[in-house]
Amino acid sequence: MKTLVVDHPLVAHKLTALRDERTDSPTFRRLADELVTLLAYEATRDVRVVEATVNTPVAPAHGVRLARPAPLVVPILRAGLGMLDGMTRLLPTAEVGFLGMIRDEGTLKAQTYATRLPEDLSGRQCYVLDPMLATGGTLAAAVRLLFERGAEDVTAICLLAAPEGLAYMEKALADFTPVRVVTAALDERLNEHGYIVPGLGDAGDRLYG
Ligand code: PRP
Repeated sequence: MKTLVVDHPLVAHKLTALRDERTDSPTFRRLADELVTLLAYEATRDVRVVEATVNTPVAPAHGVRLARPAPLVVPILRAGLGMLDGMTRLLPTAEVGFLGMIRDEGTLKAQTYATRLPEDLSGRQCYVLDPMLATGGTLAAAVRLLFERGAEDVTAICLLAAPEGLAYMEKALADFTPVRVVTAALDERLNEHGYIVPGLGDAGDRLYG
């Protein structure tokens, strides 16, 4: 598994405002949206393209266009929904699938309550959206499901990750490759309640109340 922590002053600036407990929901949503677009720029560095030629008013120009089948973007409900618009702004032709998952706050185990994905993901590049990678249980289960349906590669885009969650994913997904995690920051640790420290609190609640 490869992890990329995006090191960019605009990302750091927006993330700092996002963490601030005084940031209200409308501002939080806007910042999350803007951050995803910046992260998506890095996360799509390996998106598949094919050569294409267009005619400018002056002469033919050789370039590229996105390969088919189009990438699949999968937000994990609820909090991942706050990242969907920012992602599809950059990849407007992407198909979107949905996964509803919730972490039991007692056991910290992830449960899946909704799955709306193409059955066959053979040859598909997939981008999973979830702002928080805490214990890693949620994202590991989501990534595994996509590979089990035939995904060619999977990139998870997060706003924050904990070292414990990355270590868990590394172990849990050892049989699947290639997996990438792109995050705006790698925080210090998890606390006894499974929250990222310093983190930003509960992303779902801050987005949607
Ligand atoms: C949060 C978060 C991740 C998950 C991370 O979602 O958005 O999906 O927990 O935890 P993990 O890495 O320890 O599995 P939550 O279960 O609170 O659901 P919500 O998005 O509906 O609020």
